[in-house]
Amino acid sequence: MSEYKSELKKILLLKDLDNIEAPLNSVLKLSNEKDLASFFIDSIYIKNVILQIIDDHWIQSKNSSTEVLFDRFIKSFLNSELKPMLYLHSFFANSSIEGMHQASKALTKIEFFLLSHIKIMSYEFQKKFLQFALTQMSDLYELEHQLNSTPKKNERSAKLSLYRSFDILDQIFELEYIQNEVSTLDQKERLYEGAGIGVQSSYATILLALKYLNLGKKSQFIDLGSGYGRIGLVVGLMRPDIHFTGFEYVKERVEIATKACTHLKLDQHVHFVTQDLSNHSFKIPDADTYYIFDSFSDASFATVMEQLQEITYRKKITVVTKGNAKLWMNKQFWTEPQEFSDGNLCLFRSRARPKI
Ligand SMILES: C[S@@+](CC[C@H](N)C(=O)[O-])C[C@H]1O[C@@H](n2cnc3c(N)ncnc32)[C@H](O)[C@@H]1O
Repeated sequence: MSEYKSELKKILLLKDLDNIEAPLNSVLKLSNEKDLASFFIDSIYIKNVILQIIDDHWIQSKNSSTEVLFDRFIKSFLNSELKPMLYLHSFFANSSIEGMHQASKALTKIEFFLLSHIKIMSYEFQKKFLQFALTQMSDLYELEHQLNSTPKKNERSAKLSLYRSFDILDQIFELEYIQNEVSTLDQKERLYEGAGIGVQSSYATILLALKYLNLGKKSQFIDLGSGYGRIGLVVGLMRPDIHFTGFEYVKERVEIATKACTHLKLDQHVHFVTQDLSNHSFKIPDADTYYIFDSFSDASFATVMEQLQEITYRKKITVVTKGNAKLWMNKQFWTEPQEFSDGNLCLFRSRARPKI
């Protein structure tokens, strides 16, 4: 068993969290980027499942006239949410609700301890760490997607929700959201002044989209209204063969995204450009995939959509929409979308069109 797994097991069993530093330090001494990424991602994931266990146990106990015995109750989790965490099955099988509360506190400490360690490592180390972490996150989001889309198999009162769980990764990318960074708020555009993290797609959304897009080698990807650059950074780390461009109105956001991109040496194939997409003299370049997160004012949406529709006459393209951007997709040009997260994420493929 990897060293981090046995240390994690020990930490979860600690009665006194004042003793947590010693096992944590021993993991840091031994671990490479891959093990540290697994330690970090497992810790965040397990904490989420534990919160779900606590909620679910509480609801079941409330609705039951007899005591809900933990050792019986936990079994269904071992076969579903906890299936990938085989090395912790004996810990969960022998634990209790009090044990869950204690473990949750320990996991919060691990998360912050590891984060401060990773932040002082070299960018080269961070790049490998992030690549392993994102790959593992992608598998966990897929597991969550499968569990939550087969309700018969998973009749829980409390559902697993990883949606914003890994946002802490932003701190490694140094995506520091400057409050009110939009100096003169332009009323005609939707610039989400001061909205910080909320203006970005979650890692869950980006990784799910990337998985189901099934992009061909060396394809071109454009983010229309790229904000602080999360999508480009994730695509850049996961798919070094893809050429990515993000267009963004707010230059300070472009600067933050570009800085992260340069540190991680993604700047050969990932670019962020300051551009007002409502400007009629700007032509959106041809690409294979376009991403739009509810970005624009109505007038700008009309301009952007007109251009994307125009591109479908020349080539097959896919548009990924997040949130209400899907309302702008005209059926005449796009096939029925593939939907995820109750339609919050959609993949629209262009219809085959006769040449004009
Ligand atoms: C909701 S955020 C989405 C960021 C990113 N695409 C994501 O999903 O994580 C939308 C971004 O579009 C930008 N935006 C709005 N109007 C724009 C325009 N006319 N041209 C370029 N960017 C624009 C906003 O400044 C904002 O950063």
